[in-house]
Amino acid sequence: MNYQEILDKGNQVLKDKNIKSSNLDCELILSKVLNKSREEILINLNNQISNKQKKQFVFYLNKRRKKNPISYILGFKFFWKNKFYINNSALIPRPESEHLVEETLRNITNHKSMRILDIGTGSGCLIISLLKERPNCHATAIDISKEALKLAKFNAKLHHLENKIKFFNIDIDKFNSNKYDLIISNPPYINKVDLNRLDDDVKLYEPKLALYGGITGFEEIKKIIEKSSKLLKYNGKLIIEIGYKQRNYTAKILLKNGFFINNVCKDFSGKDRCLISTKIKK
Ligand SMILES: C[S@@+](CC[C@H](N)C(=O)[O-])C[C@H]1O[C@@H](n2cnc3c(N)ncnc32)[C@H](O)[C@@H]1O
Repeated sequence: MNYQEILDKGNQVLKDKNIKSSNLDCELILSKVLNKSREEILINLNNQISNKQKKQFVFYLNKRRKKNPISYILGFKFFWKNKFYINNSALIPRPESEHLVEETLRNITNHKSMRILDIGTGSGCLIISLLKERPNCHATAIDISKEALKLAKFNAKLHHLENKIKFFNIDIDKFNSNKYDLIISNPPYINKVDLNRLDDDVKLYEPKLALYGGITGFEEIKKIIEKSSKLLKYNGKLIIEIGYKQRNYTAKILLKNGFFINNVCKDFSGKDRCLISTKIKK
């Protein structure tokens, strides 16, 4: 069997399961199996694959057929400018969260040294992306999930930042530390109704701990804002990602906790995506 033939077969299997990215997913799976780039595969479609490679292809294809996300199958995801290793203990980094990185970078001038706290670090994609761009900063990253934290530590090492980030496996509720200049967070913010409406890829495979924000979706957002008002220095900034219908209530919680709202940033589809605020209460 050649590359073209196995890609066609795989594509049909995924199409039958209504997987929209069937074509691309098959190419990525084949690229994993052959350890070759997609480009290399696409210009050599007449090359033959071995029986062992075919078996491996079918093994991964079956995972994808059962809606396992392609990023978990591949074991990595590109985010901002870097590659991150991932597994099902952490959320797959989302392109929408790159807005949080962009907005945060706007708030840290190039050579400034800042103490940053990342609440709910997951794979570590946010804080690692930031520290790679702002080498004078230091950070603390916390997560309630032990397994996610393991992954974040692995990614920090991969990007040579293990000496710049301190990791703690702790609930934000219980975290008490020195004051920070800046806090970032992409908390779980999906409410109960929306949780059940998520695509199978997300619902069946990504950790609920990373998605579910309680019945209303605001449980963790509220905790993070309240705690940040204690953990931030006066004039320190909190930059938080939110769901697109959560702007008004999040703003209310921020104001109630002594924050000034600097800006609301929208994602590429024009939806409210993150809030930039400053602690103004002494
Ligand atoms: C939406 S994910 C974000 C992961 C990563 N920061 C990103 O942007 O891809 C939220 C993360 O918060 C963690 N988390 C949930 N509740 C928490 C809590 N109370 N305290 C600390 N971390 C929490 C979850 O384990 C998960 O890794």
